[in-house]
Amino acid sequence: MTSLLQVHLIAGARPNFMKVAPLYHALAATDWARPVLVHTGQHYDAAMSDAFFTDLQLPVPDHHLGVGSANHAQQTARIMAGYDTLCDTAVPDWTIVVGDVNSTIACALVAAKRGISCAHLEAGLRSRDRSMPEEINRLLTDQACDLLWPPSQDGVDNLLAENVPAARIELVGNIMIDTLVMLQPAIAAAGVPESLGLSGYVLATFHRPANVDDPVRLATICEQLLTLAARRPVVFPVHPRTRARLNDAGLWARLAAHPQMHLLEPQGYIAFMSLVAQAGLIVTDSGGIQEETSYLGIPCLTVRPNTERPVTIDLGTNRLIEPGSIAQLGDAALDGARGPAQAIPLWDGHTAERVVASLARAAGVTAPMVSAAS
Ligand code: UD1
Repeated sequence: MTSLLQVHLIAGARPNFMKVAPLYHALAATDWARPVLVHTGQHYDAAMSDAFFTDLQLPVPDHHLGVGSANHAQQTARIMAGYDTLCDTAVPDWTIVVGDVNSTIACALVAAKRGISCAHLEAGLRSRDRSMPEEINRLLTDQACDLLWPPSQDGVDNLLAENVPAARIELVGNIMIDTLVMLQPAIAAAGVPESLGLSGYVLATFHRPANVDDPVRLATICEQLLTLAARRPVVFPVHPRTRARLNDAGLWARLAAHPQMHLLEPQGYIAFMSLVAQAGLIVTDSGGIQEETSYLGIPCLTVRPNTERPVTIDLGTNRLIEPGSIAQLGDAALDGARGPAQAIPLWDGHTAERVVASLARAAGVTAPMVSAAS
């Protein structure tokens, strides 16, 4: 090929960074594509963003839109305007969006309206809960994109049920597992629990508006975590949204006063996965952590009424629970025997290679490919 295919990789919020990293490295290893990293600035704190670029060996973004925080409509609109302006001067051949955050739908919509070919990595996931902002983002992003890459067969089935033509869908596997496989030696060497003097602990994370913006639900979660902490350490890296809500509700001081409750700043990827890898149990409302614990075979209690990742329940270690059951089911999970981790099809560390091959076919690239590192 005479000129390299220009591929915009869109990242905006914390869970995006570990999804674009393996793809960035795999595209950079080809002789036909140039990955161009676009950071929307949806997340901007060092702990929510910069730490991930270092851990994931990502370069400084080629473009930074600097949108920052705002309500959903304003944040999405700012990202659209910023990305549209960028596309005036830096027109890509393809735009790739990942996950389900506001940056995902905003940039997919800009690409679709400009006639830029657009692909969605982590397509087809559905919680069927339209009160979740992410569910709206997922539905609309999949409608806007030309090429859809689901992580699991349920994603393919959901898209087909929405009458998406099969030719637009290619099952590629879970890109986050590529990141986990790539960084497993660094994660094993990090020793974060040892440095904190922790063993036999529960790891907790909460940030969903449905849990932390509801004062009654947030208070229940805190009481339940304190009950768990009576028997073993609880480690709780606190998302900025959650920290603000805990302070508003006067709950921060109550948690911090407990000798077995370890409130931490948001952690970087390697440090956080070091804590995950040695935890006896995870209690969370995250999407990605349901997948990482399933891959690692660590019990996960997800405090949500639904999940867009049902394969983590069918084949993995995940279970959906109510806030009021955290302590009882947490004790049961810690005391119970752990089954062996089951392999989930295509969660194998080679998703980026499949994505690159799929993109090459869609873009009509006929030149030989340099094999992609994973
Ligand atoms: C966003 C995603 C969510 C994802 C989560 C991971 C959407 C709709 N939601 O939610 O799917 O699971 O990221 O974290 O895109 N803030 C900071 N520093 C930052 C970023 C945010 O202090 O670097 C504060 C802001 O005050 C903001 C609040 O955190 O009001 C929430 O941030 P926002 O980006 O609106 O959504 P998240 O809750 O992080």
